Amino acid sequence: MTGPTRASIEARTLRSDRWWLAPLTTFVVFTAFVIYATIRAFMGRDYYASPYLSPFYSPCLGDCVEGASDFGQPFQAFPLSAALLILIFPLGFRMTCYYYRKAYYRAFWLSPPACAVAEPHSAYSGESRLPLILQNIHRYFWYAAVLVGAVLTFDVFLAFRAMPAEYAVGDGETSGIHMGLGTLLMIINVVFIWLYTLSCHSCRHVVGGRLRHFSKHPVRYKLWTWVSRLNTSHGRWAWYSLFSVAIVDLYIFLLAAGTIQDVRFF
Ligand code: FES
Repeated sequence: MTGPTRASIEARTLRSDRWWLAPLTTFVVFTAFVIYATIRAFMGRDYYASPYLSPFYSPCLGDCVEGASDFGQPFQAFPLSAALLILIFPLGFRMTCYYYRKAYYRAFWLSPPACAVAEPHSAYSGESRLPLILQNIHRYFWYAAVLVGAVLTFDVFLAFRAMPAEYAVGDGETSGIHMGLGTLLMIINVVFIWLYTLSCHSCRHVVGGRLRHFSKHPVRYKLWTWVSRLNTSHGRWAWYSLFSVAIVDLYIFLLAAGTIQDVRFF
């Protein structure tokens, strides 16, 4: 796009580095994740290998398999996969995330594809009108994401329960505290989920916004400095948590389908 603020050069960019690598990588990884998550969300099975519950289906509020619902099944009559009841919240949170917006605007809409690279579109309305003005809903999704994070943390505690014989290696004890590779993966996932959620720009505003004087709010100031520090790596937490959530789901899927057995530590 050319305009009054752009130097009048014919070339789309004068950059000679591999500026296209980042948006191309984003495009490939996002596309792969969306395809995988969509398939898994609509499958409606193999999401629970006791005591592990896939994060795609947690909390399981629909017509879920035995043992998967720790908060009841208030939507038992829902005819589709139980994941569809819950995924709207983490999905909405990520779709409206400031970091992901930058990433997918560049990768999918080339708007612009990279710094100092002209975009192919001739008009730009920003996020000031429909539909992109709806991105402002992000701050409300943040509250839902905190709830989802709390539920996933609860799932980690449940993942220390004993595993029934059909999923376990060895004698398949059914009592006591146990830890397997699934537990470890769920711990790693929940750590990344919290790092991502707490480093959110909206979280930063929740803890430190709308204040005239930090000096009169020392606790909020402290929280704001912590969140600000996390916020500098928000993009990294966004990627790590995306990978970890898919890896945990895949591991539980393979367990529940009987393809693999859990690796037990104790
Ligand atoms: Fe990325 Fe809020 S800005 S989750």
